[in-house]
Amino acid sequence: MMDWTDRHCRFFHRQLNSGALLYTEMVTTGAVIHGDRDHLLGFDPAEHPVALQLGGSEPEELARTARIGAEYGYDEINLNVGCPSERVQKGSFGACLMKEPELVRDCMAAMREAVDVPVTVKTRIGVDEHDSVEFLHDFVGTVADSGVNTFIIHARKAWLKGLSPKQNREIPPLAYERVHGLRERFPYLRFILNGGLTDAEAVLAELDRVDGVMLGRAAYQNPWILVETGRALSLPVAVSRRAVVEIMADYAAGHIARGGRLQQVARHMLGLFHGCPGAKRWRQMLSQNMHRPDVGPELLQQACPEPAVNGSS
Ligand SMILES: Cc1cc2nc3c(=O)[nH]c(=O)nc-3n(C[C@H](O)[C@H](O)[C@H](O)COP(=O)(O)O)c2cc1C
Repeated sequence: MMDWTDRHCRFFHRQLNSGALLYTEMVTTGAVIHGDRDHLLGFDPAEHPVALQLGGSEPEELARTARIGAEYGYDEINLNVGCPSERVQKGSFGACLMKEPELVRDCMAAMREAVDVPVTVKTRIGVDEHDSVEFLHDFVGTVADSGVNTFIIHARKAWLKGLSPKQNREIPPLAYERVHGLRERFPYLRFILNGGLTDAEAVLAELDRVDGVMLGRAAYQNPWILVETGRALSLPVAVSRRAVVEIMADYAAGHIARGGRLQQVARHMLGLFHGCPGAKRWRQMLSQNMHRPDVGPELLQQACPEPAVNGSS
């Protein structure tokens, strides 16, 4: 998620759940080709397994950037075919590519040809007036001709005009049944359902119907959901929030020693105590102090609420 799932956020989320596949923010092919690659693509080995999401629509450029991503060590390369922002539309990629299934197929084929790691696509159930079951099945069928077998589906359509990206994550209704229908129609492909999942029960219920789920906003705003879902799936997870705070204080100390600022790490941790006693104080202390140039990692420990009586924090 743009501006959210940077390397510091991913390192933090990895401390909560060691099994989940984490995704980068979308990085455009132009940025990878012309920009500061280490800044854009560098990550901590602790983040594995981690997928690089690319934005672009030119098969050769996507192949080239996928190769660069694989050389950086990413475990999966993903193409964004779901972002409806104006900037992305101007670049003719993201959600508007749903209207060009043959081009998406060619992009995916070129990316697959370029790398050995899995190549996947993240898309929506439709775009603008192209929102029928037939359209979605034709789109997936055409793209699957590239050999790609994993589709992450944000289970709502996007309107390219008239809605902001934020509204496009809220207003078009969720239609999980469209994703279930895809799985029935294409039993040999893998479908990962995304959109509106906010608790472990909903995740578990969907995992009976699809091949995987992707959590977006809930994982950012209430990161402990990564522990709750991981626990339910018998994945190794964090033992307590305090233990995570200690690890993150060490990590932040290293980041600061290399010239970084606490705020770059701490801003992703505001929701860690969501729903716990002391959550408000934690959030306030971090928000009010993490920007200070002289502040060190001890702020995290000072803001950390006392352990709850049942030890759950
Ligand atoms: C701040 C923000 C940035 C996002 N950036 C991306 C992105 O870079 N690539 C992408 O595929 N989806 C992006 N999304 C969409 C989410 O990945 C996800 O599809 C959407 O929020 C629905 O899932 P959720 O209900 O679990 O959040 C972003 C969402 C938010 C809130």
